[in-house]
Amino acid sequence: MRSKKLIALAMASLMALSMMACGNSAEETPAEAPATEEAAPAEEAAPAEEAAEEAAEEVAEEVAAGGNIGICIYKFDDAFMTTYRNALQEILEGKGYTVTVMDGKNDQNEQNNQINNFITQKVDALIINPVMTSAADQIIATVKDAGIPTVLINREPTAEQMAAYDKLVYVGCDARQSGTMQGELILDTPNKGDINGDGKISYIMIQGDPENIDAQYRTEFSVKALTDAGMEVEELDLQRGDWDRNKGQEIAQTDLSKFGDQIEVVFCNNDDMAIGALQSIQAAGRTVNEDIYLVGVDALDAALNEVEAGNMTGTVLNDANGQAEAAVAAMEELLGGKTYASGEQSIYVDYVKVTPDNVGDFK
Ligand code: BGC
Repeated sequence: MRSKKLIALAMASLMALSMMACGNSAEETPAEAPATEEAAPAEEAAPAEEAAEEAAEEVAEEVAAGGNIGICIYKFDDAFMTTYRNALQEILEGKGYTVTVMDGKNDQNEQNNQINNFITQKVDALIINPVMTSAADQIIATVKDAGIPTVLINREPTAEQMAAYDKLVYVGCDARQSGTMQGELILDTPNKGDINGDGKISYIMIQGDPENIDAQYRTEFSVKALTDAGMEVEELDLQRGDWDRNKGQEIAQTDLSKFGDQIEVVFCNNDDMAIGALQSIQAAGRTVNEDIYLVGVDALDAALNEVEAGNMTGTVLNDANGQAEAAVAAMEELLGGKTYASGEQSIYVDYVKVTPDNVGDFK
């Protein structure tokens, strides 16, 4: 199926190219044209055809080279990245690629070995969700040495780091946008998050992995949206929950027993931690949207259900399917020979606010 498609594509390119080449040589050397200095003599038409064939072969090789794709995910045990990797696999396999997906098990050394193995296997392109953003320099140097077109996803390196290799792009979202949207979800509530009317919004922040720019920006910009709107804020606690549901549950439990009714808003950098926090909120006898607000990011199915049921104030769609589509499109452009100028190596997909009013659109 796959090879048939590739062969058909290669044949089509070959035909198109040789038609172009024939057209040109016919134009330059019309059969009846008298031999002038400009017009190539008949026997010199052969190199032009050869060149066309060579070019066509190159295209055929390029198309056929799109075959084997290696994907490295930072860890399989991550709710959002599970949706994302499934989308990637489905899109790529649907297009006829052979796909191998590896679990980095949250261990950068493990992932480095996986990248090296893919290089030894001569995969045609790599899609990498780094375990540690701080490993970006080394990952980029490795794929550059091997000359493998690479799409980095989900954990964004700096523009300077990416500038080292022009066959590399990053596909993700601008996490500042999701943070701002979380703040707006709170501002859109009837009391703008100030449930007890004391003039300030008292919140706890359950953060993802703080090494990750998504965690940093969501933490900063959710609160910034409140202060930009002129609200006073009080941070009761900020804890790292590493994107993990159980940690979200534990942090919320501890904070709820420590701060009790003082907590008006629970900000979670992602939905999985928000689902965990919700368990503790309910166990503490609190009611979301009545005496406490709760927001996440991702729009996981479980979170959409809770938003619909009124157990989460809202979430923000982190578009796994849209990002997977964009990553595959970028990968195919790289395979087609496109290179990226420094400063133009980040491709962003928009976040979308999800509230009880529009949750139906996302289910
Ligand atoms: C998602 C998290 C996920 C993390 C993994 C974030 O963009 O919102 O749910 O755990 O990426 O790096």
